[in-house]
Amino acid sequence: MIPIKHILFLVSGVSSFIIFYMGLVNYLTSVESSTGIILLIFATAVAAGTLLSTVYISKSITNPIEKLAQNMTEFSKTNKITNKKSIITNIKEIHELNENFESMGQKVEKTLTVQKEYVVKLKEIDRKKAEFSSMVSHELKTPLVPILGYVQMLQKQELMGELNKKQLDAVDEIYASALKLQRLVGDILTTQKLDLGKLEFNQENIDITELLNSIIKDFSPIISQKNIHIVKESTKNGIIFSDKDRINQVFSNLIKNAIDFVESEKGQITIGAKNDKESVKFFVKDNGIGISETNQKEIFKTFYQIDTSTSRKREGSGLGLAICKGIIDGLGGKIWVESKENIGTAFYFEIPKQTIKINGKK
Ligand SMILES: Nc1ncnc2c1ncn2[C@@H]1O[C@H](COP(=O)(O)OP(=O)(O)OP(=O)(O)O)[C@@H](O)[C@H]1O
Ligand SMILES: [Mg+2]
Repeated sequence: MIPIKHILFLVSGVSSFIIFYMGLVNYLTSVESSTGIILLIFATAVAAGTLLSTVYISKSITNPIEKLAQNMTEFSKTNKITNKKSIITNIKEIHELNENFESMGQKVEKTLTVQKEYVVKLKEIDRKKAEFSSMVSHELKTPLVPILGYVQMLQKQELMGELNKKQLDAVDEIYASALKLQRLVGDILTTQKLDLGKLEFNQENIDITELLNSIIKDFSPIISQKNIHIVKESTKNGIIFSDKDRINQVFSNLIKNAIDFVESEKGQITIGAKNDKESVKFFVKDNGIGISETNQKEIFKTFYQIDTSTSRKREGSGLGLAICKGIIDGLGGKIWVESKENIGTAFYFEIPKQTIKINGKK
């Protein structure tokens, strides 16, 4: 880009030179020397005048424009008018331009300050809301402990007396519902802790093979109930130093989803781990209904569910994957999904073998 000053001086320089040159040619070629001298003096005066007026124009027009341009560039970077000294000019249009720019800048500065104050207030409201619902969830969780305890005692008839079939069915129903409620309250609490950066992580040595075997063992009853298969495919044996319970929780959420989305009889779930230098990549794959590309981008968000129709058979609150993501983030890793509709889904999560940064929100 060429500065306006340079263009101005180039144009006036060339014009002055041409005017002077024409005067000189006239002087050299005119028959009457007095006419030649007059023309030469006149041409020299005009050329000098052109140059002087260029200097004046440059001072009164281009300098303020240049300053204004500098201020605007600065403003676009910092959102602040750093050079508060007003531009002094006699040119009406530049004066107005500068005044308008300054008043616009002040308005933008004010708006941004107000916006910042709002963000701080909103964050505070958000934090209070999260703390309040965390307290409510906690209060909900506490009475569930005796409810579950007494229901279990009622189920064991030798402790609380005999129940007839109808009563026992009712007690079983209460137990199942109380368990669901406990899980939901637990998930809400975990999500809130993740949001507030208060979820705590532990570290211990974890044998990968043992971990995968115990997960398969835990899920065996529910897997055989649905008449599907779960297999282990591992190329990684060894020890990692991380949070075993949280990794179990991630596996559990992923496997529960996989169980829900595969067909009974044909369903196959594969879990495993792959070795990398610094990290280990775990996976849970299924041959279920799959997830469309649009939904793949959304499923890790809190409360997101693909099927929200009232007629859906599946229960759930849309917190499972959000919790998985929060935990894996907290362990310094990443989680992602690869899926094809009607073919199947694979969830991967990669975590460092030695978790260095844990706890808190990033
Ligand atoms: N393996 C999968 N195959 C197909 N769809 C899946 C699979 N895993 C998750 N989804 C979709 O992603 C959505 C979000 O899963 P997420 O685990 O977060 O919630 P949820 O299972 O509905 O409820 P929650 O886990 O809280 O009980 C699910 O509702 C489901 O539609
Ligand atoms: Mg789930």
